[in-house]
Amino acid sequence: MSPPGSVEVLEGRTRLLVPNTFSSGGPGKRIGQVFFNSQMAFNRDVSVMFLRARPVRSALDAMAGTGARAVRWAVETDVADVTANDRDPQAAEYIRTNVALNGVEARCHVTNEDLRCMLARRAFDLIDLDPFGSPVHFIPSAVQAVKRRGILAITATDTAPLAGTYPRKCRRRYGALSKRSPYGHETGLRILIGHVMREAAKEDRGARCLLSFYADHYVRIYLQMEEGGSAADRCLSRMGYVEHDPVSGGFCYGPEDKAGSAGPLWLGPLHDPELLSTMDASDDLSEAGRCRKYLGLWRSEIDTPFFYDNDEVSSTLGMSPPRMEPLLERLNEIGRASRTHFSPTAIKTDLPLEDVLSIYREASRRGEA
Ligand SMILES: C[S@@+](CC[C@H](N)C(=O)[O-])C[C@H]1O[C@@H](n2cnc3c(N)ncnc32)[C@H](O)[C@@H]1O
Repeated sequence: MSPPGSVEVLEGRTRLLVPNTFSSGGPGKRIGQVFFNSQMAFNRDVSVMFLRARPVRSALDAMAGTGARAVRWAVETDVADVTANDRDPQAAEYIRTNVALNGVEARCHVTNEDLRCMLARRAFDLIDLDPFGSPVHFIPSAVQAVKRRGILAITATDTAPLAGTYPRKCRRRYGALSKRSPYGHETGLRILIGHVMREAAKEDRGARCLLSFYADHYVRIYLQMEEGGSAADRCLSRMGYVEHDPVSGGFCYGPEDKAGSAGPLWLGPLHDPELLSTMDASDDLSEAGRCRKYLGLWRSEIDTPFFYDNDEVSSTLGMSPPRMEPLLERLNEIGRASRTHFSPTAIKTDLPLEDVLSIYREASRRGEA
């Protein structure tokens, strides 16, 4: 029987009964008891693309709400052993209903526990954390319960602390100072990755970033665990700090903690190119067009930390922003440069600020700006 006050929606190939008061944007309000945000369809699509490219034997949707993510995995991927857990009994009711609605009882098991208790007893190949706000309270249990070479998938919607609006809250939660800058969301993403890496190091484990991104109101990471103290040490050696110079629009990053810099944060790669090459934004996804667009951006994005914002650099030089395509072409003649998924007006490049500025001045002289 459907829970009272519910409506049916189709997401990807999966039918879902959700509360008729569901959220459709932003971090999502807790309207009613059970949470569902239709704007997170893209986030769930990416998890489907991920699991199709990197199948696992057992996957836990640790905070499942209506079970949207877990039931989609059971319907739309080959994962044979999906567990959907939520500590809220009404959420568990929704999950059971959605499992039955899609006829996936044999592949999707429903549990109704505090996930920290569950993770003290059970281990999984993939653990997905999708809490209200910050995941920090659940990261130690998840790091301990993910199997050897298993995968942690984590969403954080507390982007205000992570991206520098509340730096002290970020330091309390993540043990890292955030800082406002044009690349604040990338800083927040790297602080989250760094935090998980440091938790993993306590267990003599390292991790490799398979995919990490910012979208809408959240950051999201997929990390594959690597085993042993030397893997942990390798990860810790890639931690550092970033310092922003608002006068020049430039930044510098490195292992040293200078006064006013953000960190500690992860300075290693955000994506695994091999994984990205095997992910497919197929037409049956809920937001196939958006998935294709992001997949293209992730694949072409050069994996160097942080970026220049076209508007900010132009304003420091007192000129109008040049067109992105000719600018990228010119930058690529002397170094490497690309667009980035973090912002449509941003450029990632391995060139030093001086070279970037001289190309801007050149563009201005040629009347391209
Ligand atoms: C943001 S919602 C999850 C949304 C869901 N993943 C989706 O894609 O629709 C967070 C969920 O975490 C659950 N939750 C919060 N603390 C928990 C805990 N300690 N153990 C298990 N579930 C918890 C809440 O009941 C809520 O349903």
